[in-house]
Amino acid sequence: MITIKNKSSIEKMEVAGKLLSQIMYQVAEIIVPDVSTLDIDLWIENKLKENGLISKAKGYRGYPCSTCISVNDEVVHGIPKKNKILKSGDLVKVDVCASWKGYCADMARCFFVNQKCSGQEEKFVSVAKSALNAGIEKAYPGNRLSDISSAIQLEVENNGYGIVRDFAGHGIGKNMHEDPEILNYGEPGKGPILRSGMTFAIEPMITLGDYNVYIADDGWTVKTRDKSLAAHVEDTILITDNGPRILTRLNDSRK
Ligand code: MF3
Ligand code: CO
Repeated sequence: MITIKNKSSIEKMEVAGKLLSQIMYQVAEIIVPDVSTLDIDLWIENKLKENGLISKAKGYRGYPCSTCISVNDEVVHGIPKKNKILKSGDLVKVDVCASWKGYCADMARCFFVNQKCSGQEEKFVSVAKSALNAGIEKAYPGNRLSDISSAIQLEVENNGYGIVRDFAGHGIGKNMHEDPEILNYGEPGKGPILRSGMTFAIEPMITLGDYNVYIADDGWTVKTRDKSLAAHVEDTILITDNGPRILTRLNDSRK
């Protein structure tokens, strides 16, 4: 069942989203050569605490850390590790879901270590973001759920990249994962009708090569089969009468 959020739930999700996005905008500073992914996780964990946010990842089905940090061919759910050391030019995906007064926001962004990347890599990440935006742009009352899915797939495939099928976006609220499951591919015009008051975490995962993925030996980290580079971005949105409102971007900018 897709829950419609009332005003007080929405207000809490707005605060969660605002605090989380403020933290995420600071993360770039600490993504430098020679830090470990665990260093980044602990830095974010501390920021979450300072802001009264509680990580939803930690303890979720035994997940050990506060955040997911996935590097290069790792797509999502990378477990932060002390011995995973970043080097200049690595593509780092940081994914954080946290609650404020019991209501969640979920957000992921891509960072290149030292801001160093090729033109091709820069375009790749920008297409992940434009695919997310294309999906968000379909989040109007009266549209169908798969209008979002289809818009994401089109944007990714029109640019020649792969869209990962094995993981999806989701409804969000009191829980990190609620109905519906939001696929990142499919025909438009299918699934539930979207309504004002629904809150979604939309999160395309894209690959420079083939879209097939597998779960590594740690039981969590999702990697591309062909070892190609992966990008992942995620925002939490609220559907209003006037269309989507992005809760995890300062000023609701579409950039
Ligand atoms: N934030 C992730 C999501 O978008 C979930 C990761 S939490 C984990 O769904 F525990 F599953 F790793
Ligand atoms: Co999510």
